[in-house]
Amino acid sequence: MTAKLIDGKAIATQVRSAVATDVQDMRARGFRVPGLAVILVGVDAASRLYVASKRKACEEVGFKSISYDLPQETTQSELMDLIAQLNADASIDGILVQLPLPDHLDATRILEHILPDKDVDGFHPFNLGRLAQRLPLLESCTPKGIMTLLSSTGTEFHGKEALVVGASNHVGRPMALELLLAGCTITVAHKFTLDLEAHVRRAEILVVAVGKPQFIPGEWIRKDAIVIDVGINRLASGEVVGDVETDAASEKAAWITPVPGGVGPMTVATLMQNTLIAAKQLHLKIDIDEEK
Ligand code: GUN
Repeated sequence: MTAKLIDGKAIATQVRSAVATDVQDMRARGFRVPGLAVILVGVDAASRLYVASKRKACEEVGFKSISYDLPQETTQSELMDLIAQLNADASIDGILVQLPLPDHLDATRILEHILPDKDVDGFHPFNLGRLAQRLPLLESCTPKGIMTLLSSTGTEFHGKEALVVGASNHVGRPMALELLLAGCTITVAHKFTLDLEAHVRRAEILVVAVGKPQFIPGEWIRKDAIVIDVGINRLASGEVVGDVETDAASEKAAWITPVPGGVGPMTVATLMQNTLIAAKQLHLKIDIDEEK
């Protein structure tokens, strides 16, 4: 058997196109367009690429986008002051600080300084708490994007055995909360987990976010599972691979995300969705029911 591919690139294009249509509609009705501020500190090459794709997506959907490329030596108070200024700016709906930040900066304090209703990354404790309480407002982009990918397969979530491998604050933990909200029975595996293989063999939905090339052997995958590979790892040869052995996993799974072209584009498209939600629902308070 060969798994069907979940085409993240194509689904992300559909999501961005729906956002662009909404923005045109807002303009036609005399509202201002959504605004996103994207802050990059330092010279990390991968971060530069990610930020460039976020800025390009803003342009494509018709958002106002402000870019800040700050030097590596930027101080904590300079960054906190910039966030305070953007918090007070009525034309800005979303503030994104690209991670990782240089080591001398306290990322936790910086992310908590962003107003929760401008936290389009969904990283603020308020937004994670809302998700934990089944009252999501702004949801973390990668997990929310993965839920869109899973839904595209037509899967029924209720009662499904879901395994998240990796317990990071920005992917693994909010991912588990999303799957729990959808009605799955969830397990989170991490570096202290015993017998990872047994957990993987049981999973009907498997999300892997560990950042280790081909960490999960394809042979472990349960027959007809849905496999979501969050990893983007560049090998010495230059080849980009995920956290799962994709080819071998495809022999067992029903659906699988490719790397690249799976989860990556969905994170950016979901950021556009979140910025639109922040603008329409949280700031401009456009009545959704009145729209149709
Ligand atoms: N670094 C890697 N992924 C992300 C993300 O989704 N948001 C932010 N702010 N930084 C990142």
